[in-house]
Parts: sequence; C-alpha cells; structure tokens
Amino acid sequence: MRFQFTIAAAALAVVSATPVARRGIFDKTSTITSTKHINAPVEAVVATLQNFTAMIHLNPLVTNAVQDPSDPTGNTFSVTDGIPLFAGLSLPTTYSAHFDTVENGMDTNNTVAAGVTLHNEWRAVANPTGGTDLTETDTLVANVLLSGIITDELKTSHTQLMNTLADQLEAAAGTASS
Ligand SMILES: *[C@@H]1O[C@H](CO)[C@@H](O)[C@H](O)[C@H]1NC(C)=O
Ligand SMILES: *[C@@H]1O[C@H](CO)[C@@H](O)[C@H](O)[C@H]1NC(C)=O
Repeated sequence: MRFQFTIAAAALAVVSATPVARRGIFDKTSTITSTKHINAPVEAVVATLQNFTAMIHLNPLVTNAVQDPSDPTGNTFSVTDGIPLFAGLSLPTTYSAHFDTVENGMDTNNTVAAGVTLHNEWRAVANPTGGTDLTETDTLVANVLLSGIITDELKTSHTQLMNTLADQLEAAAGTASS
C-alpha cells in the first residue's frame, strides 16, 4: 500500500501541473455501489443521512470540516481528509463538499484537487422486515492514474462509514445484534 500511495502522490503532483483543458481524455468515470441492511426504522436512517455534520464525521478519513461561509444555504463544507500513507503518517487533502437533501436520502458533490470529482447518492428504502435497506452509489471522475487508488480508498472508508452508521442506528433502535 505504501508504494501505491507514493505513486498516487507523485501522479497527483503531475496531474496538478497539467492544464485542465488537456485533461479530459485521461479521465475515467467509475461507479461504485454499496448496500447495507440496517435494523432501524427508515425515518431514523433518513434523519441521519440528512444530518450533514453527522455524515461528515462518520467518515473515518475526515480530520476536519468547516462550513463554507460563501454558500448561504450552509450546505457546503470544506472537508479535510487524512489519507493514510503508512503507520503514523498521512497526506492531508482538503476538498469542497456540497450536500443536497432528497426525499429518501441525500446527495453530495465533492470537488477534490487535480480535477477529481465525486458524486454520492445515499438512499434509504423501508424493508418489509421493519428495517431499512441503505444504498450508496458513487460516481467518480478522476485521472486514470489516480482512479484505482481513489476507488480503493473510497470502498474501504465508506464500508467503515456504513458499518458505523448501522451500529449507531441499531444501538439507538435497540436492535443491535452484538
Ligand atoms: C446532527 O449530528 C450531530 C453530530 O452527531 C449532533 O450533534 C446533532 O445534534 C445532530 N443534529 C440534529 C438536528 O439531529
Ligand atoms: C451534482 O452532480 C450531479 C451529477 O454530476 C449534477 O447533476 C448536479 O447538478 C450537481 N449539483 C450541484 C449542486 O453541483
């Protein structure tokens, strides 16, 4: 992993130095879908999805988040992730995250460095058992050099996020299995 991150950091530096207009043909779009069954009522799941501060801090990579004063809706945050390089060291990345509430969940648009954009859709649907099926669909546009490493990071951190979210909601609903 350490080697991969070094490559990714070097690639990021190269990409940053490349004029934006010339980058399009090197971009790759990836779609990542994750689902999780949560033993909590759909209303509780939707309420947490729509609590943007709670969602930001559920992401294990996030080290800091501040509301962007230039967005009067208060739905844009400047978020800092510490991307783990190896034990005790991390590479901080700050990006802009814009949140939108939708009826059964939440959408996020993230603008990261080096032309990386990430769109997330979180949807909660009531399950006949009384629980909730949560689906996250991510659309990532990134330079081909960075795409694989970001996809790996995203899968790992968001799996952890979903598990923590489920644990919290199941504890609150009194349906925790452990
Ligand atoms: C949103 O989540 C934060 C952090 O978990 C919590 O402190 C706050 O009370 C929540 N806000 C609402 C409106 O539930
Ligand atoms: C977020 O991204 C989606 C998909 O790319 C786009 O349709 C939408 O307009 C964007 N919203 C904002 C607020 O930028």
